[in-house]
Amino acid sequence: MTPASSDLPNRLRTETFVRTVEHLAETESTNDIALARADSLAAEQLPALVLADRQTAGRGRGGNSWWSAEGSLTFSLLMEPSAFGLPRDRWPALSLTTGAAVATALSKFAGGADVRLKWPNDVFLDGRKVSGILIEAPPSAPGRLVIGIGINVRVPFHEAPPDIRTRAVSLHEAAAEIDRDDVLIAVLQTLEDFLSQLAAGESRLSQTWRRLCLLTGQSVVIEDVGRTISGTCLGIDDDGALRIQTGVSIERLFSGIVTSWSTE
Ligand code: BTN
Repeated sequence: MTPASSDLPNRLRTETFVRTVEHLAETESTNDIALARADSLAAEQLPALVLADRQTAGRGRGGNSWWSAEGSLTFSLLMEPSAFGLPRDRWPALSLTTGAAVATALSKFAGGADVRLKWPNDVFLDGRKVSGILIEAPPSAPGRLVIGIGINVRVPFHEAPPDIRTRAVSLHEAAAEIDRDDVLIAVLQTLEDFLSQLAAGESRLSQTWRRLCLLTGQSVVIEDVGRTISGTCLGIDDDGALRIQTGVSIERLFSGIVTSWSTE
């Protein structure tokens, strides 16, 4: 791990809800660092942000890796949901809430391009993935969570493996002038706002994720713990469940990975 130097930590502490900042030039995975800090930081030091200018072994959902390079924004937030008034029964909606916050923040930088949320928390820009989120529970600190976020701000995808090159996109393709630190601050500010909306049970939050939903009206296939669900996506319910019309019945899913989607 190598520490990075910049004025960003001061901006983060004054302009966002983050109380502790660890800014590294390079690390394997910011989620791993945040998980390792989970039982040593006091409640007053949270949320704690671990930011890396370069990640060498980023992790994604479903055991996938997260490819990143110079120009990626990769960070993890160690937080205590109870500090935001979020009891455990609201934790399942955190993933969608974070995705909606990232999509909303990124759309302000995207110059009118189409920014969408692929349930539960992938963010797409004009049909290609611009951000992914991995939320993990530290075994050593049961009341805390690590929210890991990767955003392609200005990534040289010509250096990426071919399958990633065709499926991923950088924010700078939608708008040339983008400052990585401004994106980070906007995401954190929006996340704080959306966490308060979730705690207050505000209906405008579910309206936001319904409006952003990439999958509504599409034919989808979802893998969820050893079973495959196929059908038409009817949208996202107030509690964050994805509604799928499968033949005669409607399934409500709280977990799973959408492996394919297309208009019929
Ligand atoms: C996914 O799309 O599958 C989730 C990708 C999450 C990537 C971020 S980058 C920062 C944090 N550290 C990691 O190792 N992963 C997350």
